[in-house]
Amino acid sequence: MRPPRGRGGSGGFRGGRGDGGFRGGRGRGGGGGSGMKSRGGGRGGGRGRGGGGMKGGSKVVVEPHRHAGVFIAKGKEDALVTKNMVPGEAVYNEKRIDVQNPFRSKLAAAILGGVDNIWIKPGAKVLYLGAASGTTVSHVSDVVGPTGVVYAVEFSHRSGRDLVNMAKKRTNVIPIIEDARHPAKYLMLVGMVDVIFSDVAQPDQARILALNASYFLKARGHFVISIKANCIDSTVSAEAVFMSEVKKLQQEQFKPFEQVTLEPFERDHACVVGGYRMPKKQKA
Ligand SMILES: C[S@@+](CC[C@H](N)C(=O)[O-])C[C@H]1O[C@@H](n2cnc3c(N)ncnc32)[C@H](O)[C@@H]1O
Repeated sequence: MRPPRGRGGSGGFRGGRGDGGFRGGRGRGGGGGSGMKSRGGGRGGGRGRGGGGMKGGSKVVVEPHRHAGVFIAKGKEDALVTKNMVPGEAVYNEKRIDVQNPFRSKLAAAILGGVDNIWIKPGAKVLYLGAASGTTVSHVSDVVGPTGVVYAVEFSHRSGRDLVNMAKKRTNVIPIIEDARHPAKYLMLVGMVDVIFSDVAQPDQARILALNASYFLKARGHFVISIKANCIDSTVSAEAVFMSEVKKLQQEQFKPFEQVTLEPFERDHACVVGGYRMPKKQKA
């Protein structure tokens, strides 16, 4: 796969306070060898972790984004937003809409990175591995809406407390405080899902994803995995780590479709999206 190239301007969304003019890049790479699309990330302003939220008082027009369930709030500063499942509740400091801060939400970072399809859409059933305190889970919950469900797995009891509290207000989130390496422990809680979103940041994350897919992911379902290069191997380049993770996925019945970098929001992170147990191409 060729390294991502090209930097275009699709974005201009702001992630929050104190960080200027982020742009989601749309450069296309070749995906050499793997047949996968590869996208370069945007270059933006600073790397500060903003608090998120639209500035109060200014007029904001909300328009649908090309990803179903995601919207663009166009105001003085544009922002990527989801419709809050819990009106009046705020993840950061916003009200009826959830502002997706790409410095906090890998999903937002991937969308601004130009990912073609996140597969997480209204009505989808999603298994989320590595839920932490639930920041990105809350956005996934907004996107899938009341007819979808998010099974959110997190093994840290500390983060799990926040996750459980968040889920009390979101009827479509099922928090599971367990180790994602042992899916048999939550077999009774999780149904078959359309998508697995994996963000466990572990050296064996491809194996963890494969194991969970073997239990819960429908054939022809989809996966989204965030890869943090230095969690896997800090002695080689990030690109080399991404390539070797893609190879591991291909050996586990996953078919990677595209890869986007999460830069500049997350350093040396990539997001790989693809299908599971996809039908073999018919010979003509
Ligand atoms: C990078 S953080 C996830 C951030 C989160 N996805 C978000 O965007 O808000 C990785 C999380 O995975 C959790 N984790 C790591 N290994 C795990 C495992 N084997 N089972 C369950 N959770 C795990 C960690 O405790 C941590 O909260």
